[in-house]
Amino acid sequence: MSAKKILIFNWKMAPDSLKEAISFFERTRTYADKTRTNTEIVVAPPFVYLSNLAASASVKSYSGLRFASQDVFWEDSVAYTGEISASMLKNLGVEYAIIGHSERRKYLNETDEMINKKVLAGLKTGLKVILCIGEDLIIRRRGKKAVEEFIKNQLEKDLKGISKSYKLKANSLIIAYEPLWSIGTGHSDTPQDAVEMIRFIKKTLLAKPYTLNPKVIYGGSVDSKNIADFLKHPEIDGALIGHASLKAEEIKRIIEITAKIV
Ligand code: PGA
Repeated sequence: MSAKKILIFNWKMAPDSLKEAISFFERTRTYADKTRTNTEIVVAPPFVYLSNLAASASVKSYSGLRFASQDVFWEDSVAYTGEISASMLKNLGVEYAIIGHSERRKYLNETDEMINKKVLAGLKTGLKVILCIGEDLIIRRRGKKAVEEFIKNQLEKDLKGISKSYKLKANSLIIAYEPLWSIGTGHSDTPQDAVEMIRFIKKTLLAKPYTLNPKVIYGGSVDSKNIADFLKHPEIDGALIGHASLKAEEIKRIIEITAKIV
């Protein structure tokens, strides 16, 4: 059996009602429960549904299902209207926080500096951080060296201060490598290119100044048709799944397929 894989179901800004959210959550929990894989399954609903879902009794009865927020704010004090702190999430029983998703970088102008503050705040509070990184198509077209340079730079900025200030516990940091052009487009990266980039990320983080050994997962148009091609590689520790995470049949098949791989 290979190392434990992690599946993160990112619901993005959906569904429109709590009723639907409960129904999707229950489906995910049921499939996860049935397969009982050697897989960590994480659901990332919008903030408004988190407290309701996290409090539901069915979560507590299934130890393999975890929650992630889709973002977190870096401050912990009161005067930030509209923001959600790491403590609020932690106290709700949320275990993970997705930080630096490319949609937030692109549409909400999140900078590496903001992302770095969120990463540090999340870790300090005891949330496990899922940091999203990835290059756009212009950089990809320049070739592998250009992509590596970009990723190295992004890691440097987003993880600034991490090794000095924080004693990272095992599994408290996950890197999600998501080439921007593959997110929500139906055009995933090739598994071979993803493996190469993930190897590069792992090598970079193992070296100084980081000396970290996080799980590195792939994201970008992952579905039941291609997930096995990614997860069969031992370098790829899991997947961040967007659109497919709100399709009942897809959730079922993704979990079942992953169960056969691990
Ligand atoms: P997608 O989204 O699977 O719809 O491409 C991935 C993500 O949320 O980053």
